[in-house]
Amino acid sequence: MRIKGVAVIGAGVMGSGIAQVSASADYLVTIQDVGEEALKRSKSIIESSLNKLVARGKMSREQADSALARIEFTTGLEKAVHNKDLVIEAVFENLAIKHELFKKLEPLVGPDVIVASNTSALPITEVFSATGMAERSLGLHFMNPVPVMRGVEMIRGQLTSEATFETARQYVLSLGKEPIEAVDYAGFIVSRLLDVLMNEAVKMIQEGNRPEEIDKAMELCAGHPMGPCRLLDLVGAEIAMHGMETMERDLGPGYKPHPMLRKRVLAGLLGKKSGRGFYTY
Ligand code: CAA
Repeated sequence: MRIKGVAVIGAGVMGSGIAQVSASADYLVTIQDVGEEALKRSKSIIESSLNKLVARGKMSREQADSALARIEFTTGLEKAVHNKDLVIEAVFENLAIKHELFKKLEPLVGPDVIVASNTSALPITEVFSATGMAERSLGLHFMNPVPVMRGVEMIRGQLTSEATFETARQYVLSLGKEPIEAVDYAGFIVSRLLDVLMNEAVKMIQEGNRPEEIDKAMELCAGHPMGPCRLLDLVGAEIAMHGMETMERDLGPGYKPHPMLRKRVLAGLLGKKSGRGFYTY
């Protein structure tokens, strides 16, 4: 089977990025969210990213314009999935919200439609457990910023069929991205390692280190493209906290989020998306 149309559910930064790279690879794309405001924001995220790519000579103005024209923005779930062969869920990192969405989605999609979750940490088997779609479901974990990062983690749930996985792999390759197979444990590969790194950075700030120095250390001494505090601001403190909580639940107390990480989330110091994290945006 070959994918022709992609529906992305959830128009946040990740959903917008997934819609953008899919449209740039010639797929017909619909992005759905519950409110017009979220869709307006999504369109502006995509426009600004496409403009950056044009400015850097990565794509022509015409290519950028036609990618944007291939994306339909809608609040209707039924409309979003109409005639689509791949549905990618990129809603909040909350299992109850995801299960609620799948309950509504399942009667709307045909039996051959592949359903993927972009969860950064929840085990895929659990994400699809309340559905009858487990065999045609999988994890497709894109990285932030989606238009720039080349890797996509691919996670098989307990019941994911080989045909589903292979079709999804071809889709990832067609985006010009590299599939990375990860085992279905909380946090997969990337969040498991990065969330621990970012949580440790929060702990070190409590011990008196300055975020600027931690970032400089990891950028200049370890060659990371951005230090863990800048990275936490990019990813969102609530996403890292949710990842740690999921890993603590499944893998043990070594993954307990630092209390200061929790406080920062409660205070709304989420990072770029709230305008303030370790740095101001
Ligand atoms: N769209 C298009 N282009 C973008 C972009 C976007 N959204 N964001 C950045 N860019 C481009 C810039 O235009 C720039 O282009 P050139 O290199 O050609 O000049 C380039 O990317 C670099 O941007 P900046 O100069 O602004 O900043 P930078 O040099 O620090 O690079 C970065 C930014 C690409 C994000 C880089 O710092 C990086 O790779 N950081 C690590 C990101 C990472 O680890 N992501 C994974 C996070 S974990 C995750 O996402 C999973 C999860 O669920 C928690």
